[in-house]
Amino acid sequence: MNTALCPDFTLEAVYESMVALPVFPKIVHRAMSVLDDPQKNISDVANIIKFDHGLVANILKLTNSAMFGLSQQVSDLETALALLGQNRIREVLIASAAMPYLSRDLHGYEMSPQDLCYHSVGCAMISEVVSQRLDFPHSSELFTAAILHDIGKIVLDIYVGPRLIEVLDRSRRQESDFSTAEWEVIGTDHAVAGSSILQHWEFPRDICRAVRAHHDPDLYIQNRLSAMLAFCNIITVQLGIGVGTDNFRYRLSDQLLYVLDCSERDYYSCLEEAIRVLDDAKDVIRLIFG
Ligand SMILES: [Fe+2]
Ligand SMILES: [Fe+2]
Repeated sequence: MNTALCPDFTLEAVYESMVALPVFPKIVHRAMSVLDDPQKNISDVANIIKFDHGLVANILKLTNSAMFGLSQQVSDLETALALLGQNRIREVLIASAAMPYLSRDLHGYEMSPQDLCYHSVGCAMISEVVSQRLDFPHSSELFTAAILHDIGKIVLDIYVGPRLIEVLDRSRRQESDFSTAEWEVIGTDHAVAGSSILQHWEFPRDICRAVRAHHDPDLYIQNRLSAMLAFCNIITVQLGIGVGTDNFRYRLSDQLLYVLDCSERDYYSCLEEAIRVLDDAKDVIRLIFG
């Protein structure tokens, strides 16, 4: 057996793989705290991020995409930030910095580099639809959690790959969801791994918790952000947006609807509205991958 393709699995090895990931750009967190400071303005934000050319290029790409829907094309950072406004600046910053992590080939999950990106961008765009429909006041936090919710797959990929047949087989035989089968076969799942990565990158605790909970009904009903993220992911999977092997096995429960104080009718309205954003998400992927 090729050991490079089938590394020894231990939780320590997974942890080492997490720590070895390039750290999420600290300037994004710095820019976020400047945005929270009433004494600072947009120029202060621009001054922090303007020297990271890769980040600025991604910010401009996304600002000019259907994801952020400005009425005019922009070619410089300050204009882009001024037109976006506070909440959207947070979202464009997170999305721009997340792109390099999400644009990866995930053989273990049978996902192309476009798939995880499309799934994450799609889920983030759906989060905007859902926040509006369900009147959720923390739409930026939900957007952040949505774009990063499956980040754990980039670390678990090399462990899931060699055991994929077994994971799928268990999942089918027991009619369990993919993450339950991940637990049974490799002793953790991508939600736990993702939450650990985000903690390591010093993301706020609520966001880490929502990512940790996104496939676990007992956990995601505990708070609204987690429940909202699970709801958005279910819609994204239901629409088949960038799903690999981990698909069609996450179902909407009455308990989730109860926690979100919404009806099945609201769910179908969100689903219908989400179909509208599919083209916009495709446009973002075209821009990123050329
Ligand atoms: Fe997931
Ligand atoms: Fe997902």
